Amino acid sequence: MIRTPLTELVGIRYPIVQAAMGYVSGPRLAAATSNAGGLGLIASATMSLAELGDAIEETAGRTAAPFGVNLRADAPDAAERVRLIIASRVPVASFALAPRRELIAALKEAGVVTIASVGARRHAEKVAGWGIDAVIATGGEGGGHVGSVPTSLLIPQITAAVDVPVIAAGGFFDGRGLVAALAWGAAGVAMGTRFLLTSDSPVPDAVKQLYLAAGLDGTVVTTRVDGVPHRVLRTRMVDHLVGARGVGALVRSARNAAAFRGLSGLSWAEMVRQGQALHRGTGQRGTGRRGTGRRGTGQRGTGQRGTGQRGTGQRDTGLTWGQVLMAANTPVLLRAAMVDGRPDLGLMSSGQVAGLIEDLPSCAELIEAIMAEADRCLDRVTKSRSE
Ligand SMILES: Cc1cc2nc3c(=O)[nH]c(=O)nc-3n(C[C@H](O)[C@H](O)[C@H](O)COP(=O)(O)O)c2cc1C
Repeated sequence: MIRTPLTELVGIRYPIVQAAMGYVSGPRLAAATSNAGGLGLIASATMSLAELGDAIEETAGRTAAPFGVNLRADAPDAAERVRLIIASRVPVASFALAPRRELIAALKEAGVVTIASVGARRHAEKVAGWGIDAVIATGGEGGGHVGSVPTSLLIPQITAAVDVPVIAAGGFFDGRGLVAALAWGAAGVAMGTRFLLTSDSPVPDAVKQLYLAAGLDGTVVTTRVDGVPHRVLRTRMVDHLVGARGVGALVRSARNAAAFRGLSGLSWAEMVRQGQALHRGTGQRGTGRRGTGRRGTGQRGTGQRGTGQRGTGQRDTGLTWGQVLMAANTPVLLRAAMVDGRPDLGLMSSGQVAGLIEDLPSCAELIEAIMAEADRCLDRVTKSRSE
């Protein structure tokens, strides 16, 4: 039994959080994690408000243990989502990057535990000043949108800087990692890629096999997807994206954005707004809506190339129109792989840790194995100290 400020704060058995993953961490994965003694998080950025309501209800029906909802504070309906979380008595709300002070206050007043994702010390200090209950700090080896500071340096820096519990993320997969995180002063770990690769994750099996086959050099961080550094599994499509240049790229982005607009019902203005928000780093990942249609993922032209070219730039944001359009497109590309099982056409966010993972345990098996290994690891360390 390892008790930490995180297990105490949230009332969970083990200091292990399943990180939010758009199109991946819905009710099934979140409830399986919570039932196994960890904290499951529903990723809501890729859900409409109504879908989130259904997901909360389904998760609560699957588990009596605490679970959480991950949301974007810059979503147009963020306040409604917060009201839904409160009304549904969800125990934990976690923010995908920059939270808003008034949202934290409303959640805390209602007794909801608040957690913010941070990638740098100054962000952790800022949200701690706003009264956040805990932070998830993610190092550069993590999957999805990442910074460049490795976990082994970021976590000791942030735990020294703030008094709230720090949950370490980026590259964790086993009990040794959990013990290392505790040694750095963290209160637990959050894992994305490791939970994606469980039998409880809804990702199509063919896609899981691609993750399992990846080596430690099997991921790449690129800004070519949506203008901000994004760690994804390396595929032929991604290589094209990273390597390509030329005027055709903007045309391709525009064509794909037009297809996405048709499917999502978003206006051009809203797409540009979302693309810009993503680029500013205020938002994370999926900007689209679930159920926006199945086509659009398999259309010609989803194999995208370069995003922005010189001369097409928007001077005010520093973001090219190609990047704005790509940012708006990102959910379609993620959905193609994660939901439709078309990795050839889509994008797969992934941590470097995919290169060390070789199996697909259930969440319960995974968490038990991590805790057992953490125990052995602590014994080993203690023994070497007394010898
Ligand atoms: C497939 C995938 C999808 C993700 N989607 C989201 C998301 O929707 N929102 C979010 O805040 N983070 C998202 N992330 C990042 C994770 O929450 C977490 O920070 C990351 O997976 C931690 O690194 P690890 O994969 O090495 O464990 C995603 C990560 C992956 C692998």
